[in-house]
This record gives sequence, C-alpha cells and structure tokens, in this order.
Amino acid sequence: MKKILVIGIGAGNPEHITIQAIKALNRAMVFFILDKGYADDELLRLRREICERYIEGDGYRLVQVQDPRREEDPASYQHGIEHWHEQRAALWERLITEELKPDETGGFLVWGDPALYDSTLRILERILSRGNEAFEYEVIPGITSVQALAAQHRIALNRIGEPIRITTGRRLAQEEGGDIDNVVVMLDAQCAFERFASHDLHIYWGAYLGTEDEVLISGPLKDVSERIKQAREAARARKGWIMDTYLLRRDLG
Ligand SMILES: C[S@@+](CC[C@H](N)C(=O)[O-])C[C@H]1O[C@@H](n2cnc3c(N)ncnc32)[C@H](O)[C@@H]1O
Repeated sequence: MKKILVIGIGAGNPEHITIQAIKALNRAMVFFILDKGYADDELLRLRREICERYIEGDGYRLVQVQDPRREEDPASYQHGIEHWHEQRAALWERLITEELKPDETGGFLVWGDPALYDSTLRILERILSRGNEAFEYEVIPGITSVQALAAQHRIALNRIGEPIRITTGRRLAQEEGGDIDNVVVMLDAQCAFERFASHDLHIYWGAYLGTEDEVLISGPLKDVSERIKQAREAARARKGWIMDTYLLRRDLG
C-alpha cells in the first residue's frame, strides 16, 4: 500500500517543526510541493529549506507542480470551491499514481497545521472516494500561525475560562460586532477589523509571523486600526504578498 504523510511544517519559522515531523520527513522519499501561484517563491523556498535542513542524506525527490488556481465563481462561492477542489483532486491523484510506486511513502508539506483552514485532508479523502487510487495516510501536526501570533504577543488566546472563536475576514465582514470577543481572524484580505474601530476592542495583529519580515502591532483597535492598515499596505507593496492574522478581544479597560 502506498503511504502519504501530511506534515505540518509551521507557518514560517523553520524551527517551528516537531520531532515527529522531522522523523516523518525522513520517512518519505517523494515530497509533493504545490505551487499555488502567489507568494510562492518565498514559501516554496521555505519548504525546500526545511527538507534540506532536516532530511538526512539526499535520497529524496521534490515534485513541484502548479496547483490549479481558484477561479471566483460569480454564481456561488461554494460552487467555485467545489470545482477547484475537484481539479486539485484530479491533479494530486495523477501525482500519486505517477510518482509513487506501491509501498513507497510520499509527503505533503502543509503550512502551519493541516487542521486549520487547509484543504489537504479533504482533497486526499476526495481522491480515495474517487476509487482510482488507494493509499493510507497519516497526519503529523504543526504549529499554526495562530499559535505563533499568541507566542509573539506573549498572550493566551482567551482570558480565564472564556471561549475562543476562529473565523475568516470574509465572515467577520458580515458580523454586527456585538459578540466579538477572543476572535481570531485569518484570511482577511480586506481589513475587516476596520468596521469595528469604534468598538471597545483590543487587537493583537501579526504579519509574516515567524519570518524575518514579521510585523507585530497591538493596542486598542480605535488607536491602532489605521496604523495596521498602513503597515499592511506598505508591507504588501514591498513584498508583493502578505499573510496576517489577528486576535480581537473586548477591552475591559
Ligand atoms: C489558508 S490559511 C492556512 C493556515 C495554516 N494552516 C495555519 O495553520 O496557520 C492562510 C492564512 O493563515 C494565516 N497565516 C499563515 N501563515 C501566517 C504567518 N506566517 N503570519 C501571519 N498569518 C499567517 C493568514 O491569516 C493566512 O491568510
């Protein structure tokens, strides 16, 4: 049986990798590196560096392919995602068929942790349900950008006994703001926090966490909202892409 290892590699800091992940890196002989077409030279370089740094010997191969791009479907967001996942499943299935011999082990290097806003596991399940290719897979957890955010700001995500919610910028943009407390926001291309700048909220924001370009800003949202927006725009203009995450918390004064 072929085996696939889905390995969380952390969200930018090459030292955010577990011993289990290093052992997994050394078990696989082929790594599938998916070029998503944005931010890529740097993110791909980081994946390559992780392999070079942690794999003993050079008896492994990297197979890099262009991942299909998600086309916005004006009719339905859900339909657009569905179509994109199907295209990715077809591509990945072909890779597993062509690049892995029976009994060989392959690896997918997943940014952060595969459990958080990542479709690798869904796509592997989709390939299995298509029934053309059989394999076993294991998941090796990684440190998420959310954990990196909390560590860099030296905060716990919640105050004592309080719940935490993780959501996207797209969803936050639709909220009224009444129950925003301990909300971690990811995938926010539009600065959705701006809408709540008049609320009594505190923000802990981080971009390029764990990398040498890391930017951290925190403070009452009404005071730092504009500064974050400007820092975000400047960083994006400089590097051509940005990845940022933030925590919004009710300000208790
Ligand atoms: C598709 S999600 C993947 C999340 C990833 N699986 C994780 O565990 O962090 C991409 C989002 O994660 C966040 N992200 C990932 N890496 C980041 C980093 N180094 N700094 C800040 N945010 C990051 C951003 O919100 C970005 O839009």
